[in-house]
Amino acid sequence: MDTKLFSPPFSEEQFEEAAAIIRQGGLLGIPTETVYGLGADALNEDACRRIYEAKGRPQDNPLIIHIPDMSWLPRYCRDIPPAAYALARRFWPGPLTMILPKQDCVPMRTTGGLDTVGIRCPDHPVTLQIIRRAGVPVAAPSGNTSGRPSPTTAQHMVEDMWGKIDGIADGGACGVGVESTIIDLTCTPPRLLRPGGLPLEDLQQVLGEVVVDEAVTAEPEEGVKPKAPGMAYRHYAPKAPVTVISGDADAGARYILEHCDSTSGVICFHEYLPLFSNLVTYDLGHKDNKAEQAHAVFDALRAFDGTDVTHIFAQCPDSSGLGLAVENRLKKASGFHVIHV
Ligand code: TXA
Ligand code: MG
Repeated sequence: MDTKLFSPPFSEEQFEEAAAIIRQGGLLGIPTETVYGLGADALNEDACRRIYEAKGRPQDNPLIIHIPDMSWLPRYCRDIPPAAYALARRFWPGPLTMILPKQDCVPMRTTGGLDTVGIRCPDHPVTLQIIRRAGVPVAAPSGNTSGRPSPTTAQHMVEDMWGKIDGIADGGACGVGVESTIIDLTCTPPRLLRPGGLPLEDLQQVLGEVVVDEAVTAEPEEGVKPKAPGMAYRHYAPKAPVTVISGDADAGARYILEHCDSTSGVICFHEYLPLFSNLVTYDLGHKDNKAEQAHAVFDALRAFDGTDVTHIFAQCPDSSGLGLAVENRLKKASGFHVIHV
């Protein structure tokens, strides 16, 4: 199939053409503030089936639906608690997905057979414009091939989806760099299913107590299905195996120095780059700047695929603020192969 690349500056015609792809049941790569998504009409079962095919995604892994503003919430969700509106007012558009009971119009194909739906309003002008013009909610998982790191540039989308989908809208590099935070509001207290671009601490300010799902910090046990089905799968994995080094950053850098060899790759904090000047490295950002690290983490995990590196060591931040999301992505990429120093 021919894939059309839509590039800025976007003309009226381009917006129309991109929206028409969605309306007509096609697949479109869309930029968001978190990662690029693989979008289709969320109410069209056939279109959603094609999302699963293009990604090679298991059919039981539900899709997040994207709306242009809070007023669309009751069209697709029911029994909406006041907390959902409080969160939407405070954090939308932005990197927060809420799990709520779904309305009947949302097909089971979209929700992987669940009677709940994940819903969010993304903070990207190009995608908001496309959704409004399409006039339908857009189901969009991250636009990577299943199992690969999520795409944070249009180039990443091209790598994974060229020839498999109708179009890709280039909205530049994603500002946040990790996916949205997912909060389940169908239980009391609310439950954090996936840490992401909105820190847990911000949610706690609005919600009070929040339970952190086990799948956020530990490897899911064999046969046990986490509440966010997607958290069960090995994820974000580069081609070379990864070892995550957590704990004190200085001690972590020393550990890597002692254990690396000439075929090792190193994802490290900016401050330690000079230590590894003879190896292939990726700068994860300054050790105290978690926003930089979130922005860099997926590109870091993709960067070694074109090299001869046979093993990757990755430094990992502590879990406060955006650190919880960066830590989760690195640990999942490593299959929870973690050394604590
Ligand atoms: O930032 C994001 O959320 C990106 C952009 C494109 O919006 N999307 C994204 O989608 O990360 P995806 O499909 O890669 O991850 C969605 C996660 C999966 O782990 C899935 O299992 C979970 O959300 N999920 C979706 N609907 C759910 C539901 N009804 N109940 C529980 N988990 C759900
Ligand atoms: Mg994904």
